[in-house]
Amino acid sequence: MKTDTPPTIYLKDYTAPAYLVDTVDLDFVIATGATTVSATLAMRRNPAVAAQPLVLDGEELETLSVAVDGEKVPFSTTPTTLTIADLPDAFTLHTVVRIDPDRNTRLSGLYRSKDGYFTQCEAQGFRRITWFLDRPDVMSTYTVTLHADKATYPVLLANGNPVASGEEADGRHWATWNDPFRKPAYLFALVAGKLDGLFDTFQTASGRSVQLAIYVEPGKLDQCPHAMAALQKSMKWDEERFGLECDLDHYMIVAVGDFNMGAMENKGLNIFNTKYVLARADVATDVDFENIDRVVAHEYFHNWTGNRVTCRDWFQLSLKEGLTVFRDQEFGADLHNRQTARIREVRGLRAAQFPEDAGPMAHPIRPASFVEINNFYTSTVYEKGAEVIRMIQTLIGRDGFRAGMDEYFRRHDGQAVTCEDFVAAMAAASGFDFTQFMRWYNQPGTPHLAVDSVFEAKTGRYTLHIKQSNPRASDNHPYLIPIRIALFDAGGQIIAGSDRTLLLTENSQQFHFDGIAAEPVPSLLRDFSAPVVLDYAYTPQQLTLLLAHESDPFNAWEAGQRLASTLILDATAAIAAGQAPVWPASFVDAARRLLQTQAERGAAFVAEALTLPGESTLAEALDIVDPDALHAARNSLRRHLAEQLEGEFAGLYAGLAPHGAYTPSSEEAGRRALRNTCLAYLLELNTPAVRQLALQQFRSADNMTDQFAALAALAQTECTERETALAEFYQRWQHEALVVDKWLAVQSGSRLPDTLATVKRLTGHPAFDIGNPNKVYALLRNFGANLARFHTPAGYAFLAEQTQLLDGKNPQVASRLARCFDRWKKFDGERQKHARLALESIRDHQGLSRDVLEIVNRALG
Ligand code: ARG
Ligand code: ZN
Repeated sequence: MKTDTPPTIYLKDYTAPAYLVDTVDLDFVIATGATTVSATLAMRRNPAVAAQPLVLDGEELETLSVAVDGEKVPFSTTPTTLTIADLPDAFTLHTVVRIDPDRNTRLSGLYRSKDGYFTQCEAQGFRRITWFLDRPDVMSTYTVTLHADKATYPVLLANGNPVASGEEADGRHWATWNDPFRKPAYLFALVAGKLDGLFDTFQTASGRSVQLAIYVEPGKLDQCPHAMAALQKSMKWDEERFGLECDLDHYMIVAVGDFNMGAMENKGLNIFNTKYVLARADVATDVDFENIDRVVAHEYFHNWTGNRVTCRDWFQLSLKEGLTVFRDQEFGADLHNRQTARIREVRGLRAAQFPEDAGPMAHPIRPASFVEINNFYTSTVYEKGAEVIRMIQTLIGRDGFRAGMDEYFRRHDGQAVTCEDFVAAMAAASGFDFTQFMRWYNQPGTPHLAVDSVFEAKTGRYTLHIKQSNPRASDNHPYLIPIRIALFDAGGQIIAGSDRTLLLTENSQQFHFDGIAAEPVPSLLRDFSAPVVLDYAYTPQQLTLLLAHESDPFNAWEAGQRLASTLILDATAAIAAGQAPVWPASFVDAARRLLQTQAERGAAFVAEALTLPGESTLAEALDIVDPDALHAARNSLRRHLAEQLEGEFAGLYAGLAPHGAYTPSSEEAGRRALRNTCLAYLLELNTPAVRQLALQQFRSADNMTDQFAALAALAQTECTERETALAEFYQRWQHEALVVDKWLAVQSGSRLPDTLATVKRLTGHPAFDIGNPNKVYALLRNFGANLARFHTPAGYAFLAEQTQLLDGKNPQVASRLARCFDRWKKFDGERQKHARLALESIRDHQGLSRDVLEIVNRALG
């Protein structure tokens, strides 16, 4: 059965709303089995638009009554619209609907989770709550009353400020909240639940006091202090870096275990996945602590970049997301370690965004069309979007960027705007012409740069010739690309004056450097100044020099990644041809030197530099991927390093032993990262002594970082200690949902040959629940990212089946799972045959959601 083709929505078809909603009064009577929502909307015709009927959005609403100015009126409905004709210029619309949050498994709109009722309205969940003009350019002030059973749902929250509350019959109570700020419906939120609260305050720069609260499942208060501190640090940082003060009297964060995404910036009432709130040293890793800092900051920063100034339409999503990711990246870099932060950002971009931009879901950071907007909350819109904002800052400088932000808020506070409006403010404040730069907003695909160099000893002139191309773009006009560079002499020193930012504006362009005494080593794209793929025929000697001497830590790391990539890709070809890989001694020497300089260069940097490029990143460099050969090649290099550097790894492992009790500082986190990198290399040797060492660390660690690192390394190794550790870990942590997610993820991500069988078995384990997004991501999506184990006929058939099963419950999450197939055309013919069958089986599934259908159609198309 083929599902009907759902309509495509185009940016070019945007029109302003025909009606506006000034105020919204909502009354929720929450009860098991049904919730009644009464809405009173003060509406008027938009004077800028021709008169036409009112068409409201709705989904799965049972309409009980519709009245205009107190009178029943004729109206017509479809499953997703309610139309009223012949309306006066201004009127009050009153509707009553019944919804069923207990059976809302999509987790969009109002839904039930373990400890109560929660909402998720971005992008289009509000229409699942009441009839409305559910679009971000319709902004209103809201007053919300909730009624619920008092014992079961003692906490009643909505956006804004508490106005009044009281008791009512049958042990029920009510509370009214008012949000004085105009906002689009996607920022609406309410919560009714049994929750514990951690309370604090923040004094803003101008002396206002903001009441802060974090609400979590009962018994978890001791896992909240880190998130509270992160919130206070974010508030301070935004004042210092951008002069942005909190405008709210109350700022609340509520954590919920069932949540489709990471977190949501609802005005004054953020709702978070527990994953980005709960942390304590024994249950959360250093990476978890850092992610919480960044996500708490991200949602707080949205209060200005997203809420005070919002998006005109959903095509502009990157207006708020790219900008807010850039802001949370900068916050994280200031709070932790700027050097490794940048390295990790780029590692993440290459692992997820570059493949997306080269695959069937490629889209510009501002898409021109979509079928289902939820499919466009992507690493392109978020992470590439942040890179585009970062380039703007590179082009006009930090001060220019700050002036541009000031101008943006001066012009647009309280408005719903476009990406052009943002860039226009940047241009006005800096005088920079961004006309050509707009291509970054309008084209899909990763630009490729091909760089050649010529040195003329006679004249002392060094010339870089740079060509750009983007085969995914609709035409071959050039991008404006900032390329930071420096030239190094043979001694590893920067040649004076060579450190600069080149502006590439042509498809082919030359840049000259004069007064150069001897052929230099170019360090190109320092700090990853643009999200491009750069080819230059570096020699291993040049890369070794940069790895040892480049003062920009990103490009030092990059030199090491280039060395390793070349070796692994050559070895992949060798293994596929039945030959043994060869590993040059120079690479081992470079790795040894890195280990020896950890004290000067920082443990965190060395840990990053010793981490080989990931398989999905390496796969992008191949035309046809043989996942088994690639996997064998990368593992062989890991094992070779372990054999050659066993003494160094063991020495550093011992030398970096913790000084005392765990502290989450970046300094200590860096030491742990390097020590655990050493342990994982040592485990490649799979000797009884090393296995014991890992088991010993697993059992004695006083923190999750070290315990989990030992478990993760053992999970990649076939041995009895692996099974012991997995069993002990589950036994100990089975009641901590987020730790169980880690337990599922180390198994689904394992390179062991029987991983598919394990994952299948775990779908029937009590720890797994297909209705919980975190569990699906940990077990199923993480398996889909396991290159060697997923890309098999049986792996394809399994994820196709799981996607269909999940689609009936939660299309948004099913659609994310379906994306595991994105790169199927990069594999050999036999694999492609099976992937196609799997995709077709999903496509032909009866009643398939438009979310998954869009993904599958693009993949097959
Ligand atoms: N705006 C949220 C954030 O980035 C994400 C919400 C995504 N929701 C969705 N249904 N796709 O912080
Ligand atoms: Zn966001």
